[in-house]
Amino acid sequence: MNLLSKLKATPAATLRQLAAEGLRCRLAAARRALLPLPREVRGRGSPEWRARADALFNAVGYAQAADVRGCVAEFGCFSGRTARFLAAGVAYFGGGQRLHLFDSFLGFPQASGPDLDLPFVKSGLWGAGRAMGLQTPASLRRKVRRFLPRGKVEVHAGWFKDTLPGFSEPVAVAHLDCDLWESTACVLGRLLGAGLLSPGGVLLFDDYNASRCDDSLGQRRAFREAACAYSVDADGRDYGVGGRAFVVSSYEPAGRAYL
Ligand SMILES: C[S@@+](CC[C@H](N)C(=O)[O-])C[C@H]1O[C@@H](n2cnc3c(N)ncnc32)[C@H](O)[C@@H]1O
Repeated sequence: MNLLSKLKATPAATLRQLAAEGLRCRLAAARRALLPLPREVRGRGSPEWRARADALFNAVGYAQAADVRGCVAEFGCFSGRTARFLAAGVAYFGGGQRLHLFDSFLGFPQASGPDLDLPFVKSGLWGAGRAMGLQTPASLRRKVRRFLPRGKVEVHAGWFKDTLPGFSEPVAVAHLDCDLWESTACVLGRLLGAGLLSPGGVLLFDDYNASRCDDSLGQRRAFREAACAYSVDADGRDYGVGGRAFVVSSYEPAGRAYL
């Protein structure tokens, strides 16, 4: 059967459907071509920031392609630079997810407990009030508004321990850039403890390897403890200088209380 006879044999409704699908694809391609992607996503800038941009942008693309349900969330936003990579991913891959941005807007909290042994706490780099980049939620919103409309972005200002209990959306991708054990544990306690992370969801830790890859410190410690508390089954890979991303295939939210 040649193409013409095939077309004649195809019902008109199917042809209309195919034409509409073709038009949607062309419009999506045009929208992507016009999108002003951040320079790091376009492969410019320092290798370290390119690696971060790549990991975050593609995690959002993966969630969309693999139909992992839920929003995109960032915990630790400082300059808004990594929030832009996530926002660009949502816009580019067309998933339509909401972007939730969590930060104290007061910098780091006072370190305590195991965090007192972190080399960067000892050196003062991660001291209370340090890493205070954007001082208002409005300035963070401005950073991402070229990618996402206002209604798609929610900024949660305050300490995680105060803002997280009121958050209950399913999460497909979470970027944890809050460095400390306590802050990371607090986020994992909510995402895993309350069952918010969707199956196949991604957890990206910006500082997983930052403390000399010591399992008893920082984000490594927090994830190791949470993995044990919630029987997490996950596959991980390193990115950039200190980051590691995990795709979590399963876990048990109703496990014993964590934190
Ligand atoms: C390294 S900076 C984040 C960098 C950011 N992703 C960027 O692109 O610039 C760490 C951020 O985590 C925030 N943070 C750390 N612990 C927190 C907590 N317990 N509650 C709220 N914010 C916290 C700090 O305010 C700071 O903005």
